[in-house]
Amino acid sequence: MQVSEKIVILDYGSQYTKLIARRIRDMSVYSEIIPFDTKAADLDRSDIKGIILSGGPQSVFASGAPQIDPDIFNLNKPILGICYGMQLICHVLGGRVEASEDREYGPATLKLESTSHVFFEGLNLNQKVWMSHGDRLLEPPSGFRAIGSSDNAPITAMAHRDRPILAIQFHPEVSHTEHGAQMLSNFVFKMCSCRASWKMFDFIEDSVNAIREKVGDSGVLLGLSGGVDSSVAAVLIHRAIGDQLTCVFVDHGMMRKDEMNEVVTTFRSGIGINLIAVDASNDFLGQLKDVDDPEEKRKIIGRTFIEVFDREASKLNHPEFLAQGTLYPDVIESATHHGPAQTIKSHHNVGGLPDKMNMKLLEPLRDLFKDEVRQVGRILGLPDPLVSRHPFPGPGLAVRILGAIDRESVRVLQEADDIFIEMLRSHQLYDHVSQAFAVLLPVKTVGIMGDNRTYERVCALRSVSTNDFMTADWSRLPHEFLAEVSTRIVNEVAGINRVVYDITSKPPGTIEWE
Ligand code: XMP
Repeated sequence: MQVSEKIVILDYGSQYTKLIARRIRDMSVYSEIIPFDTKAADLDRSDIKGIILSGGPQSVFASGAPQIDPDIFNLNKPILGICYGMQLICHVLGGRVEASEDREYGPATLKLESTSHVFFEGLNLNQKVWMSHGDRLLEPPSGFRAIGSSDNAPITAMAHRDRPILAIQFHPEVSHTEHGAQMLSNFVFKMCSCRASWKMFDFIEDSVNAIREKVGDSGVLLGLSGGVDSSVAAVLIHRAIGDQLTCVFVDHGMMRKDEMNEVVTTFRSGIGINLIAVDASNDFLGQLKDVDDPEEKRKIIGRTFIEVFDREASKLNHPEFLAQGTLYPDVIESATHHGPAQTIKSHHNVGGLPDKMNMKLLEPLRDLFKDEVRQVGRILGLPDPLVSRHPFPGPGLAVRILGAIDRESVRVLQEADDIFIEMLRSHQLYDHVSQAFAVLLPVKTVGIMGDNRTYERVCALRSVSTNDFMTADWSRLPHEFLAEVSTRIVNEVAGINRVVYDITSKPPGTIEWE
């Protein structure tokens, strides 16, 4: 991304790396995650105002442990080493690091000698911080001095005496570090002298120009799912090239209630985008008949999606570009971007589409986080209910109907889900949770309605709160509210006679049931 100033983060594979970038962008300063083996020469540019070395799961003593180009220390740019980043600085510059089998994980108290270092300006001498490390420092490299300690790590913070290099053992990017945001802000504004100038308006203007330049007078095809990412990509590209964009919405028969109509109304009638809506439910549900293995379902859906999409693209003579609403987290999670991060879970959206279709890719949102995408959507005039919509997985209700899928189970689940979501909205709870939905179980239980015995299926309600969807906690929804939802579902949805609420966090659970 071309911006006048940025902070780069060398990625050593910590699960928190993304959070560092997020926190910095929250301060209206652009921040980008780059591979740890980036060469000093590539960082010797005036737009790079500071360099952060992220944490990582490895020990600096492990064979193949990720390294750093030592010339980076001679660029005279402000450097912040976090956790593994700190150990690496110490190890590479000749200090003493002690290998440890045991990890310290959890809260600790950082005791500072003074708050005279600008990184700690405005803070108290004792701070609650969040630790997650194995190795620890015993002696700083020459030129550095220890400036903070904790019970388990004698050197928890160290700073270079004359150069703007600081290293810390804890994670300022996680919210459990009490004043982490202030520390990062001190790094960004006081050590790196950044200005808060990264604004979504500029992003829109820049990307509209970039899209026009890249596409010229060619055609662009976009698979619109109705979710936030593809919707925002559609309006942004439409703003740049108007009718050169055609969107295809594939209804695989497992969308939420009335979804197809809503998408058509919003995009075709509301915004005036060329939209082809394909009812491919027979293709998908036919292929899925009697299949109950989750991975098998996903494979069938992925394959059928490509077939249907390709069929539509052929009717349009395969435009030159294929647009996708890929976001920054997708980019950094993809294995090709960097070395050491461990992929927690791979998702299977329209995987394989670009390869199969031999089209050039257009991904205008690939530098943005989800909430930045939402801001762009709002600025471009997408209706708020669409912009603030909870994420919905590509395979749709297929991952929420356990066991074999047929039209009747889709109908039953759509009704139950619609009641749950509509009630969350009417009770002003929808925007307080990150993702909520109903799941249909392949289990029947006995119940009683009026004077009759019933034998129907169980519906599970799931609602989670999360920042990044990698970890999540179940939402503490009010009992009275859950009781009302349960009553309505059992009374109004033929086919369900029992409702349960999922109280599993992630980990150990996942958000979807599959
Ligand atoms: P899990 O179930 O892995 O879900 O905890 C994390 C987030 O990812 C969504 N999800 C998907 N999104 N295609 C998607 O676009 C998929 O195949 C898929 N599977 C899970 C899930 O809804 C949650 O937001």
